[in-house]
Amino acid sequence: MDDARRWELQADLTLMNPTTPDRVLAATRLAGVSAEDFVLDLGCGNGTVLALLADTFGCRGLGIDCRPEAVLAARAFARSRGLEDRVAFRCDDAARPADSFCGATVALCLGAASAFGGIEGAAAALRTSLGDDGRAVLGERYWRTERVPPEFARDFADCVTEYELLGIVREHGFSLSGIVRSGEAEFDAYEAAIWAGCRLALARDPDDDEVRAYLSGIQDEYLGYGREYVGWAMYVLSGTV
Ligand SMILES: C[S@@+](CC[C@H](N)C(=O)[O-])C[C@H]1O[C@@H](n2cnc3c(N)ncnc32)[C@H](O)[C@@H]1O
Repeated sequence: MDDARRWELQADLTLMNPTTPDRVLAATRLAGVSAEDFVLDLGCGNGTVLALLADTFGCRGLGIDCRPEAVLAARAFARSRGLEDRVAFRCDDAARPADSFCGATVALCLGAASAFGGIEGAAAALRTSLGDDGRAVLGERYWRTERVPPEFARDFADCVTEYELLGIVREHGFSLSGIVRSGEAEFDAYEAAIWAGCRLALARDPDDDEVRAYLSGIQDEYLGYGREYVGWAMYVLSGTV
C-alpha cells in the first residue's frame, strides 16, 4: 500500500500519532510557544495541532502537507474554529518545497520524519527553517532497546534509539530541553483508530484486499513486536543551550 493511502486511512483521526492534545500542549509549553510565535508544522495532516496551538497560545502558523485532501480538511477545520486569519495551510512536498519555509520561530515535525528520509533529514529540515534561537518539537517513534531482532528492525529501517536521536539533533545544532513520552494507552488508542479506519473502508468495499491485508499486517506487527520494542515521544529542541 502506498504512503498516501495509508495516511488516508487515518483521515478521521484528530491526531495522526499515538499522542493526545494534552501531551501536544505539554510539549509546546516546554518549547515556550506564545502569541509572539510563528509556528511551522511540517507534515501537518488535518491541521489540528496548529489549530490547537493558535487557540491556546494565540500564535500564528503555517502547515504543510503533501496530500491535497489533508490541506482541504485542515483549512476547513481552521475555518470552523474561526482561526483562518491566524493559520494557513499549503499543499507542498515538505522535503522539496516550491518556496522555502524560513522565518518560523517554532517548527514542528510530528510523525512526519519519513518525509525527510528519517530523523537525520527531519532534524536538518527543522534547523534550516528556524533562526538561531528557534525552537522545535520532533515527535517520532524510537526503538526502546538496541536489541531489536533483525527481522523486525528491517520493517522500520529509519527508526533509531533515543540515544542515537540525541546525537543526531545535537549534530544539527539543537540541545534537548524536554521529552513528552506516550504510554501504552496512547499507542492502543492510535492503533485501534487506524483499525477503525480500515474497517470503515472494508465496510464500503468488502473486496478491497489491499486494505484487508494491510489491517491484518499492522495488527500482526503491533501485537507481535511493535508494542514491545517501539516507543513514541515528542522531543523539545532548542537552538540555543
Ligand atoms: C503521521 S501523519 C502526522 C500528521 C500530523 N503531524 C499529526 O500529528 O496529526 C504524517 C503526515 O505527513 C504527511 N507527509 C508525508 N510526507 C510528506 C511530504 N514529503 N511533504 C509534506 N507532507 C508529508 C502525510 O501526508 C501525513 O499527513
